[in-house]
Amino acid sequence: MGNLDGKVALITGAGGMKGIGRACAMKLASQGADIAISDFKREPKDLPPQEIKAQWRSIDSVAEEVEALGRRCFKVWCDLTDAAQIEDMVSRAVGHYGHIDILVNNARAIIGRDRVPITELREEVWQRFLAINTTAVYLSTKFVAKSMIEKGKGGRIINIASDASKRAKPMTAAYTTSKFAVIGLTQASALDLAPHRITVNAVCPGSVNTDRLNYWEEAQAKTQGVSLKEFRARIVADAGKAVPLGRIAEPEDVAKLVAFLASEDAAFITGQAYNVNGGTLFH
Ligand SMILES: NC(=O)c1ccc[n+]([C@@H]2O[C@H](COP(=O)([O-])OP(=O)(O)OC[C@H]3O[C@@H](n4cnc5c(N)ncnc54)[C@H](O)[C@@H]3O)[C@@H](O)[C@H]2O)c1
Repeated sequence: MGNLDGKVALITGAGGMKGIGRACAMKLASQGADIAISDFKREPKDLPPQEIKAQWRSIDSVAEEVEALGRRCFKVWCDLTDAAQIEDMVSRAVGHYGHIDILVNNARAIIGRDRVPITELREEVWQRFLAINTTAVYLSTKFVAKSMIEKGKGGRIINIASDASKRAKPMTAAYTTSKFAVIGLTQASALDLAPHRITVNAVCPGSVNTDRLNYWEEAQAKTQGVSLKEFRARIVADAGKAVPLGRIAEPEDVAKLVAFLASEDAAFITGQAYNVNGGTLFH
């Protein structure tokens, strides 16, 4: 028996082998929730080498893991740049389970093409980051909240934001803007949904050891003549040295806070943006 027995959680961007979405699916399932997971079908060039090596199959693989925990798992492919697909994702998940109690807005645009000074930032990259990181959060919230209101049993919406929601770094204009906006969206939707006992909170990780494909890291590794794996290991080690608690986060560190915010114990918390960063940022 878990504290999320009988609940259903929909998690976007949950197909990555080392992603925060997968960690959330496993954590919420381990606490008793049934899971609906979504992701978009990546082209092979956009898959991390270790996923190819492990013959990882995105949400199909995650679903098998969730089911191995004894929970149900519904899979739905959805490109979050397309509003119609988002509406369809929500209605299929609601159709399958009858209700959604927890929404985790986790997906983000693949990092890398945005890592340029603003004078070099292509408008299509800017638009893509805003579409996936911000507009899709608004649309998923809108459709899921409507269904939660209809059921009348309250709900939990958890937006995975970032330390980039609170502090900019150079060459991140698109990402930073898209993630600052998520905090505004979290506060505004928390106020709109409070009368329906639906809480909306954001989780703001610092660096996380997610090992995802990143176009910028791929290019850097090539320039330095090292494998992507080696380059990633260096980044993780170097970034860890700058964290007061001595390491960067694991996806599970983030999932634990998500599980708390999804629980009954967090019923009186809404509109907040909590850091999971080992002490690197305090506001
Ligand atoms: N990894 C980190 O260091 C870090 C730090 C701070 C915040 N975050 C946030 O945590 C969340 C998860 O990060 P991660 O590193 O696990 O994720 P990630 O970079 O692997 O991306 C998450 C998922 O989004 C999916 N996605 C990309 N484009 C999509 C589209 N068009 N439609 C549907 N899905 C799409 C990807 O396929 C992937 O599975 C993100 O919101 C990210 O901004 C991550």
